[in-house]
Amino acid sequence: MKKRDTWASRLGIIMAVAGSAIGLGNFLRFPAKAASNGGGAFMIPYLVALLLLGLPLMWIEWTLGRYGGGFEHGTAPGIFHSIRRKNRFIKYFGVIGIFGPLVIFIYYSYIESWTLAYSIFSLFGKLSPISDQQTMQSFLRGYQGVEANGFFSSILPAYAFFLVTFFINMGVIYHGIRGGIERICRIAVPVLFICAVILLLRVLSLGTPDPQQPSWNITNGFGFLWNPDFNALKSGKIWIEAAGQMFFTLSVGIGVILTYASYLSKGDDVTLSGLSATSLNEVAEVILGGSIIIPAAFVFFGPDTIRSIAASGTFNLGFVTMPLIMNRLPVSQLFGFIWFFLLFLAGITSSISLAQPAVAFIEDEFNIGRKKAVWIFGIVAFILCHFPVFMLKHGVVDELDFWGGTFFLVLFATIEVILFAWVFGIGNAWDEMHRGADLRVPKIYKFIIKYVTPLFLLTVITVWMWQEWLSVIVMKNVSAVDRPYVLGTRIVLISILAALAIAVKIAWRRREKGGDVNEA
Ligand code: ALA
Repeated sequence: MKKRDTWASRLGIIMAVAGSAIGLGNFLRFPAKAASNGGGAFMIPYLVALLLLGLPLMWIEWTLGRYGGGFEHGTAPGIFHSIRRKNRFIKYFGVIGIFGPLVIFIYYSYIESWTLAYSIFSLFGKLSPISDQQTMQSFLRGYQGVEANGFFSSILPAYAFFLVTFFINMGVIYHGIRGGIERICRIAVPVLFICAVILLLRVLSLGTPDPQQPSWNITNGFGFLWNPDFNALKSGKIWIEAAGQMFFTLSVGIGVILTYASYLSKGDDVTLSGLSATSLNEVAEVILGGSIIIPAAFVFFGPDTIRSIAASGTFNLGFVTMPLIMNRLPVSQLFGFIWFFLLFLAGITSSISLAQPAVAFIEDEFNIGRKKAVWIFGIVAFILCHFPVFMLKHGVVDELDFWGGTFFLVLFATIEVILFAWVFGIGNAWDEMHRGADLRVPKIYKFIIKYVTPLFLLTVITVWMWQEWLSVIVMKNVSAVDRPYVLGTRIVLISILAALAIAVKIAWRRREKGGDVNEA
């Protein structure tokens, strides 16, 4: 058996987990969600979700990951198997922990490539002549290949930037945990914070740019985002949205933190490190993410326009509104570049973490060297990435995001917490969590992890099934033109799940044949 890679330092893994967590979700998704769900009132369900879902799951994944790593397993099938060796089925639940990140990687890396493209476009002033929403929207649609227009005659530029982004991702994971992921995150995460602070200071200094609209000032901009509308708390939607944002932003329930933590050593702390990574993410999200895009858009466009833009989706805020704001500032090219480069760094430190579970699975369970494993992953992921690149306009990205980035994430988190608290046993789990710990987790969390988190998750799933299941299955909200594409995407997703389950079966059969009775 070859020796598994390890992190070079504690700071390294904290930066890597923070890098995985801090992503497009912090700077685009969070402000849009808060603005359209009661402003400051959104922070109440958000905080509840952080304390009852986010933090417990963060600790669970760090603990389970380190535990499984001790048995040379870096992904959920092996990690779950380590918890209850006698059970032959438990490992199959873990398939979701490779499936989820792979599916998110397929579309996330493409969106990340837009941020790279837009940072170059900004730097070279390609966006500077555009001054209205409609034209900026056309530019984006032309770039995405959704419509042919005067800006782009084909999807070729988008494809070229996708290739560059894809190969950068592969290059990083090719160099491994220490030499690739840790090295890039130690640089990218601080640079990302510096870029965000520069933008924050710029936004704070905006004042009242339009003297005709004295109420469109920066103080009211912050008020717009943060003044609470407590009536919003009565709707179930705000609670579900807050829980969904918590999973997405912390990268929990996906499977990536399990894999990162599997490269820890047995006595390494997980409680304080998990809390540190979570805190870094929350600073980046609430303080930085919450202070850039919405207040800046408010002072230039006013409350009515910004409300409709926020509701129209996160991409419009980031790729349409933000460049327009930049164009109204002095040295717009530089600030535009900083904004998109910030998104690119946030994106790449997340996408490499999404790629790593599948690579680790090939390495650990088939005993294949890292470089060869990256090649195998690269070829499969490269083929799959073509679906979102060429079928974006037919709803393929939304479909992948729904299953990979929402549904399976909540399901996987539920499985994890039940296995941790009820199968591993909360007593064992608590001891394991505190092995080498630099922070004693308050005792109340024993109760939360055992009862509250699983109940919270089961309720979310049941309510969802009750309200939405049928309309999702019959594609009620999908247009007739897009239905074949959405159906095709579902067939591909089921095939990936089946292929992964078969791979798990083959891997364990090989172990049995190899005489590893313990593992059989
Ligand atoms: N956690 C990552 C984000 O926020 C996926 O974008």
